[in-house]
Order: sequence, then C-alpha cells, then structure tokens
Amino acid sequence: MAIERTFSIIKPDATRRNLTGRINAIFEENGLRIVAQKRIWMSRAQAKEFYKVHKDRPFYNDLVDFMVSGPVVVQVLEGENAVAKNRELMGATNPANAAPGTIRKLFAESIEANSVHGSDSPENAAIEIAYFFAGCEIVG
Ligand code: CMP
Repeated sequence: MAIERTFSIIKPDATRRNLTGRINAIFEENGLRIVAQKRIWMSRAQAKEFYKVHKDRPFYNDLVDFMVSGPVVVQVLEGENAVAKNRELMGATNPANAAPGTIRKLFAESIEANSVHGSDSPENAAIEIAYFFAGCEIVG
C-alpha cells in the first residue's frame, strides 16, 4: 500500500475544549504519523481562501466565522492510505451520521463545529499542505 500524506485541521471547537492530545492519540494509535503540526489563529482572508470551494454554499460565511473564532491546529499526517484512513477516523461531516468511535461522533458539537477537517483526495491534500506548510517544516 502507498505511503501518503494528508492535511488535517483540529478546529476551534476542539482546541477550545483542550482536545488536541486526545485527537492526536487517535491518529497515532491508528497508524498515522504527525509529520508537521502548528497551532495558528487563521485570518479571515486565509479561511476564506482555504474554503473557497464552498463559497457559493449557504453555510460559507458561517463556516469562515467559525474557523476564525479561535486557534486551530494544522497538521500533516502520513501513513498508508492516509487520506482515506483519516476520513475513516474522522467519520461523517455531520456528527449525527458519524459511526461510533469516530472523532466526530466522540467530540463534534454540530455539522459546523465538527472538530476536524481532513483532505478529501491526494490531489487536494497536496494543495492544502502547501497552503499552510513549507517543505522544510514537514519532517517524516
Ligand atoms: P470540512 O471537512 O472542514 O469542510 C467544509 C465544512 O463546512 C465541513 O467540514 C463542515 O464543518 C462545514 N459545514 C457547515 N455546514 C455544512 C453543511 N450543511 N454541509 C456540509 N458542510 C457543512
């Protein structure tokens, strides 16, 4: 199987509740290695650009407001099939639909405050990683 990298965000609802370590433990216990990580407070411009694929969706403005409401932890996760593995660990976008044991079932407050983001494809992972990290900040 291919060793891949994916991009992850621990969102403001989770940093506010001091859940970074518990979420990271789930990644590490399931074969994902945190090869880059930093805690940042996104600017509105950064959040708008990051989520621009959703700019015509009715939830876009609220999503941007939420993502700048507190600090986030941006990460690069590495492992076998990291993109799909991370999406499996996160669970469905809406915690009401997330499988038992997934991060969103365990921790998310709502479809908006859903604790984590993960890339949806290897192509988007590469774009999202490059948006937040220089190559020299990623140490595998
Ligand atoms: P994320 O994986 O970060 O990608 C887009 C985010 O939009 C998603 O997680 C949700 O947190 C947020 N969001 C808010 N409302 C909706 C909605 N109705 N459908 C999909 N995503 C939503």
